[in-house]
Amino acid sequence: MRASFDYAGCSVIVIGGTSGINLGIARAFADAGARLGVASRRPEKVEAAAAGLSRDGRPALGYVLDVRDATAVAEAISAFAAEAGPIDVLVSGAAGNFPALARDLSPNGFKAVVDIDLLGTFNVMKAAYPYMRRPGGSLINISAPQAQVAMAHQVHVCAAKAGVDMVTRCLAIEWGPEGLRVNGVIPGPIANTEGMERLAPTPEARQLVTEGVPMRRFGSPEDVARACLFLGSAAASYVNGAVLAADGGWVLTGAALPIPPPGSP
Ligand code: NAP
Ligand code: COA
Repeated sequence: MRASFDYAGCSVIVIGGTSGINLGIARAFADAGARLGVASRRPEKVEAAAAGLSRDGRPALGYVLDVRDATAVAEAISAFAAEAGPIDVLVSGAAGNFPALARDLSPNGFKAVVDIDLLGTFNVMKAAYPYMRRPGGSLINISAPQAQVAMAHQVHVCAAKAGVDMVTRCLAIEWGPEGLRVNGVIPGPIANTEGMERLAPTPEARQLVTEGVPMRRFGSPEDVARACLFLGSAAASYVNGAVLAADGGWVLTGAALPIPPPGSP
């Protein structure tokens, strides 16, 4: 089965694109011909990702930033646009997660995740807005099943990612008239990623997750990347405000994670 897209001549930046799913997304755009930018907190990850995303004649650009710092985000995206031109596709995927029952979660723990996922998404969207190609620019927010399914140990993430989906929908309304599209992608359980290592760390846990996915397998970063290639392209020219699950149907069955129910010790 072929699933190919042509991004030759396009500029694409992936915020939080230096590891895991988001790096897979960045790689897919680079392989499809785009000029890439990536950004995250740790300089060594940024450097390695930019080196790995450079293609003949198209060096990838890397930016060190924390999405909680609106000024740093604005400077990085402005610098990328100055170098690479109007932005055709921006993917916003920086996130933090750890399992914790609400009773054990400090206000600062809740805030840390909401600040990275939700405020960070807003900071990235707002910073990108002036630099997107008009018409035709596409902004994609990486969401999670937690946006749609309530989960024990995940009150902070559920609240943050539900907010991310609403940012997606509100901006789709505000920016649609300017020829911009704003959509979201919900990855399912993706193998060998930091997120899944934290939530399903044992073989038994991964087996339970697999049984909950109608397609009976974990996904890959490439599975998620193809959804982003679609949303960024003219094939999705009338898709605006959608949140597309690339999850093998996991959300439909409740996206159960093998973490203990509330009330357990
Ligand atoms: P990951 O490898 O930890 O990726 C997170 C990325 O965000 C890294 O590049 C990280 O780099 C960056 N980042 C984290 N905090 C940041 C901050 N404050 N400012 C700037 N960059 C920051 O995790 P992943 O599991 O692949 O998850 C990627 C995305 O998919 C997330 O949005 C997650 O919610 C979503 N998702 C994942 C799964 C899954 O199965 N893994 C399922 C559903 C949704 P630095 O460390 O250098 O900052
Ligand atoms: N359980 C409960 N609380 C936790 C926790 C855990 N496992 N990990 C962190 N916290 C709390 C801290 O105790 C702190 O609260 P406090 O000040 O009341 O003690 C608060 O969260 C902030 O922690 P800190 O380590 O200062 O945050 P940070 O901004 O350096 O890091 C995290 C943010 C905690 C989300 C960190 O895990 C991270 O950077 N994650 C990015 C990678 C990731 O999560 N990938 C998966 C994406 S799905």
